[in-house]
Amino acid sequence: MVRAVGSANVLTDPDLTASYECDFSGRYRGHAAIVVRPADTSQVAAVIAACGRHHAPVVPQGGNTGLVGAGVPRDGEVVVSTTRLDQIGEVDSARGQVTVGAGATLAALQAAASRVGEDAGLDFASRESCTIGGVVACDAGGARALRYGTARARVAGLEAVLADGSVISRLAGLPKDNAGYDLVSLLIGSEGTLGIITRVRWKVVPQLRARVAALIPLHTAAEAGALLSALRAHAPSLESCEFFLDDGLQLVLDHQRRRSPVARRAPLYVLAECAARSDPTDELADALQRAGVEDALIADDSAGRERLWALREGITEAIKAAGIPHKLDVGVPLAQLDGFLARVPGAVAASGGGRAILFGHLGDGNVHVNVLGPEPDDTRVDDAVLDLALRCGGTISAEHGVGVMKARWLERALGAPELAAMRAIKHALDPHNLLNPGAVLTA
Ligand code: MLT
Ligand code: ZN
Repeated sequence: MVRAVGSANVLTDPDLTASYECDFSGRYRGHAAIVVRPADTSQVAAVIAACGRHHAPVVPQGGNTGLVGAGVPRDGEVVVSTTRLDQIGEVDSARGQVTVGAGATLAALQAAASRVGEDAGLDFASRESCTIGGVVACDAGGARALRYGTARARVAGLEAVLADGSVISRLAGLPKDNAGYDLVSLLIGSEGTLGIITRVRWKVVPQLRARVAALIPLHTAAEAGALLSALRAHAPSLESCEFFLDDGLQLVLDHQRRRSPVARRAPLYVLAECAARSDPTDELADALQRAGVEDALIADDSAGRERLWALREGITEAIKAAGIPHKLDVGVPLAQLDGFLARVPGAVAASGGGRAILFGHLGDGNVHVNVLGPEPDDTRVDDAVLDLALRCGGTISAEHGVGVMKARWLERALGAPELAAMRAIKHALDPHNLLNPGAVLTA
């Protein structure tokens, strides 16, 4: 290992490995045999080959911003940190693509794209820490997925190290390339269980500088659904449509020691943002009027927009400051959203109780159910919320991934045939269960 990456990049001192051993939420923690920090693809390949020779299981880790326990060691695995693979190539404006190292942060990619008038087409609050390899390995979503899709839609190709230490590379970014099985798609969202992503060919989108945001207080999720329909119909520049509830707003205000910008408080708030080449304010105002909205906070300058977004993006930090949350990321069909939100408190109460804070990406039917109170290893509330999501026709994982948190739920969510096919793929590519064992698929 030392020969592959140099002694400075093999960490064994508990003071140095500690930050790699506990996840962002504080719920998942374990012990790493060692933490290895390769600098390039050939070093990753050498590390994985060495781990294979010693039958040492591997947990790949990027910025350690994952929320389902898949990026931290569980039981003495080798943590392979990708943060040193942080090179970002030149943006090819003709093709709208750039090759990005797995360890580059989303913020670094956004900055590189912005310098040439482009946009990464993906955004969320952990942008300064999360890495592109992790973003792709989890098929992360975020607020702009409504317009641009999840990370999957941004991938024109990738390079990865497989469990036997071999390297597969599709970095040409050819828009038309249907030669053989689509291993690139298979690796996206595989959460480090089929290969370690080392580079990504990323599709940027044209930067839209004219932006306007609106915070709209509402009474029910049904009203929010109707508002979303009106925005979709009358504001083609709609980029994000998020929601949070009043107790989430209060938590953020208390945490940020801020006064409420909303004079008349309501049970639910929608935060919508439009982006275009020319000022979309009139378009948004017209859509809001057609939706019957009389009371909205509009922000058409960047400072004002940032203040509104801090209310939505600050929820995660505010929850973290209040305790160790159970972070359940589910998706439900929009028609079921009202019923789902109404039934969550009952499901939480029946499973032992806790404080449920709900927020998320309205436009994607993606609800983040965060529950404070239950002990980290008490899974009753996880089961209750995931069960409810499935009974509403939804998914147990919208954008955070399955991880170790939901692995035992995958068969119920997908059915035995699909799970068997996934196990067969895993066995074919990683017969000794070397890569991220216990994540996505139970051991
Ligand atoms: C978000 O939408 O804010 C992120 O998914 C993070 C979270 O769920 O806490
Ligand atoms: Zn989210």
